[in-house]
Amino acid sequence: MTQLFFSEFQDDNHPNAPLGSPRPLVIVGAGGLGREIAVLVAQLNEAGSNWDLQGFYDDKVPATPTVAGLPYLGTIADLAATPTPLAVAVAVGSSAGRAAVVGQLTSTQLSFPALVHPQVALRVHQRISIGAGCLIQRGCILTCDITLGHFVLLNLGCTVGHDAVLEDFCSLMPHANVGGGAHLETGVYLGTNATIIQQIRVGARATVGAGAVVVRHLPAGCTAVGVPAKAIINNQ
Ligand SMILES: CC(C)(COP(=O)(O)OP(=O)(O)OC[C@H]1O[C@@H](n2cnc3c(N)ncnc32)[C@H](O)[C@@H]1OP(=O)(O)O)[C@@H](O)C(=O)NCCC(=O)NCCS
Repeated sequence: MTQLFFSEFQDDNHPNAPLGSPRPLVIVGAGGLGREIAVLVAQLNEAGSNWDLQGFYDDKVPATPTVAGLPYLGTIADLAATPTPLAVAVAVGSSAGRAAVVGQLTSTQLSFPALVHPQVALRVHQRISIGAGCLIQRGCILTCDITLGHFVLLNLGCTVGHDAVLEDFCSLMPHANVGGGAHLETGVYLGTNATIIQQIRVGARATVGAGAVVVRHLPAGCTAVGVPAKAIINNQ
């Protein structure tokens, strides 16, 4: 999958650079996050992008025929079998759930653009790299020399400090904060308002509870809560 290295590109190669003709896009996940990503797409289009948002895929059939005014298009297997090129946003909040969906979407017809709110600064001088499929919502602040892997979700108002690394499928809920030089391994989930202080490493698939402050390294697979955060579940 494509990794966008903004240090190597001019600013007009920002993922939000205007698109020529309308480009079809669908959202996987017809729940609350899916509707929030539909808002993000509308905000991108208002700022000059040209996405043609066609509707939602989800294995759970919605209770209503339309979602946020757009049609329900089918299951993830239906999407995997799509015969024509299609851009996809995977709006699944759980890290494991998002990875499972992406694992089913192997068709070469499908592409996974990074969608970044137009007011989130990602300039060349910040040296930020962002993997395919990342979703970055309004109010996020990323400073400099940051690496986001593939399919990283930064929900509303998150901050990511200098030299931080967020590996594939990390998920930050609203107003989570990652300090300078912190490293989140694959699939880490930070609850809303969680904070990882500088230089801390969080092991793969760890969950950090809402409001927790992590001041020591956390092992893979644990669930940690509180201030300072302590592991309440240790699952490797
Ligand atoms: C940490 C979390 C994943 C634990 O969920 P869980 O495994 O279902 O755990 P439980 O709810 O059974 O709670 C287990 C214990 O941890 C405590 N606890 C749970 N979450 C906590 C939190 N964020 N901070 C402090 N304590 C917490 C509970 O009070 C309970 O304590 P007790 O055993 O003394 O009663 C969850 O509570 C959480 O914080 N999720 C993040 C949600 C979020 O940010 N969503 C964003 C949506 S946009």
